[in-house]
Amino acid sequence: MIGIKILATGSCVPKKVVTNDDLAKLVDTSDEWITKRTGMKERRYVSGEEDQTYLAEKAAREAIERSGVAKEDINVVVVCTVSAEYYSPSAACLLQGRLGLKNDIIALDVGAGCSGFIFGLETIRALMIARNAKAGLIVGAEVLSRKMDMTDRSTCVLFGDGAAAAVLKLDDRPYTAVTGVDGDEEMIHIKVPTGFIHMDGQGTYKFAVATVPAVIEEVVKKAGLTYDDIDHFVLHQANLRIIESIAKKVDQPMDKFVVNIQKYGNTSAASVGLALDEAYKTGRIKEGDRILLCAFGAGRTWGAAII
Ligand code: ACO
Repeated sequence: MIGIKILATGSCVPKKVVTNDDLAKLVDTSDEWITKRTGMKERRYVSGEEDQTYLAEKAAREAIERSGVAKEDINVVVVCTVSAEYYSPSAACLLQGRLGLKNDIIALDVGAGCSGFIFGLETIRALMIARNAKAGLIVGAEVLSRKMDMTDRSTCVLFGDGAAAAVLKLDDRPYTAVTGVDGDEEMIHIKVPTGFIHMDGQGTYKFAVATVPAVIEEVVKKAGLTYDDIDHFVLHQANLRIIESIAKKVDQPMDKFVVNIQKYGNTSAASVGLALDEAYKTGRIKEGDRILLCAFGAGRTWGAAII
């Protein structure tokens, strides 16, 4: 199977930091409740000139620069998001325009809730193979602060804004992925045209702790590996308790799990990329390491990939 190699990552988070104490001034909540139930301490919200395209562009420019890949060699652009500026044109189209990527290009959005980055990887890999692309750009970018009812304490403390990008090339090293969809409208949704995030928190929690270990088992088996062969688990950052419960179920130490939820909250399709970028930049992930990415989210979607 033709795999993908991440040449470089990039990220951009808004300047404005919103702490748990800041939110406690808006709704009946506390730093203690949020920390204990979620592991979150802060998140970022866009302000001023910052918007979804701004974050996506900054993250993409950083990834492209760090990769050393020439812009004309990037032939596929995939943006994973549930909070694009427009229904149309796509976020990928706006990003392509800002970056000036013009050579034999296809640019499109992938909407799969918080599973977006994994669905995006599968999409970009397939497109790169089909088009024999020299390089591809994947970006997860969300502005969820604009999708929250700031009077609803059960959701407004959970989500944040941010973007992460990766420049990829096709590679003959092993790559394995699994994805799933179990069409559902109720668990988590953002209703058009200007709706807020609605979420059944407990239902989502149960879904996550039941599904994610099964998906991890499936992808590891499919790759012919064992859990001990995985150097890093990079999971969707929805709740620290969910990550801890998964670590326990797969009987792997927490220090193999990348966690940055305390700084950014749940950034949906950006979260796996943001965690990955941080792990690369801090030197935690090294050339040749085997990384398991896994996410779950709205629509009851799930996916995992070993790169
Ligand atoms: N501050 C204080 N109290 C609160 C808050 C808050 N921010 N939010 C809810 N509560 C209260 C509730 O009203 C309830 O009070 P009651 O007992 O008097 O009725 C109590 O806290 C417990 O509420 P629960 O919903 O049972 O709390 P729980 O322990 O389940 O934690 C949470 C809630 C954090 C949302 C948890 O269920 C969770 O993390 N679920 C998964 C969420 C998730 O993964 N989302 C991402 C999905 S991916 C995507 O695509 C977006």
